[in-house]
Amino acid sequence: MRKIAILLSAIAMIASSMVFTSYAQDMTPEEQAAAAVDQRKSLFKTIRYNLGPIAGMAQGAPFDAEVAERNARRIAVMATMIPEMLAVDTSAFDNIETTALDSIWDNQDDIAAKTQALIDNANAFADAAATGEMGATLGAFRAFGGSCGNCHDTYRVDND
Ligand code: HEC
Repeated sequence: MRKIAILLSAIAMIASSMVFTSYAQDMTPEEQAAAAVDQRKSLFKTIRYNLGPIAGMAQGAPFDAEVAERNARRIAVMATMIPEMLAVDTSAFDNIETTALDSIWDNQDDIAAKTQALIDNANAFADAAATGEMGATLGAFRAFGGSCGNCHDTYRVDND
């Protein structure tokens, strides 16, 4: 069931990006860039939505192995879209609000590598959660959560 749910949400997201592509032809370059930024922020916000309960558990909220595994697997699937979302150079327009640094556009291999690290760490965390063991699961959180900051530190305006 869980696999089917993941598959369905992935299909829904692919479908919405196909709609985005077909509309893109009627948009000005600035509108396309604004839409691309909007799209990537939405992805990251949905990733954060899923990380929230896990981060809560790491900070002492009641441990729920099922939620931990489910949300980590969701993040691993959603993260596969990160390189695609960070492939569109949106730097040409000053009035588009973004915290993405321009070094992203020339470092696509590194973006792919940092994304893969996140996917691997999310799956390792989910595998630990699947055992139901709280200690092992929370022990895997540092690497998992750290893979977000590892990319943000390099490719995002430091506004924390
Ligand atoms: C490979 C690089 C990369 C990885 C990995 C990554 N991010 Fe990000 N993230 C970015 C970039 C770049 C932005 C800036 C997007 C923008 O402002 O256009 C961003 C922005 C965000 C935002 C702000 C979105 C907004 O509304 O402005 C959140 C929240 C976020 N990331 C959460 C996460 C979480 C949680 C993880 C880990 C589970 C993660 N990110 C992993 C590169 C990454």
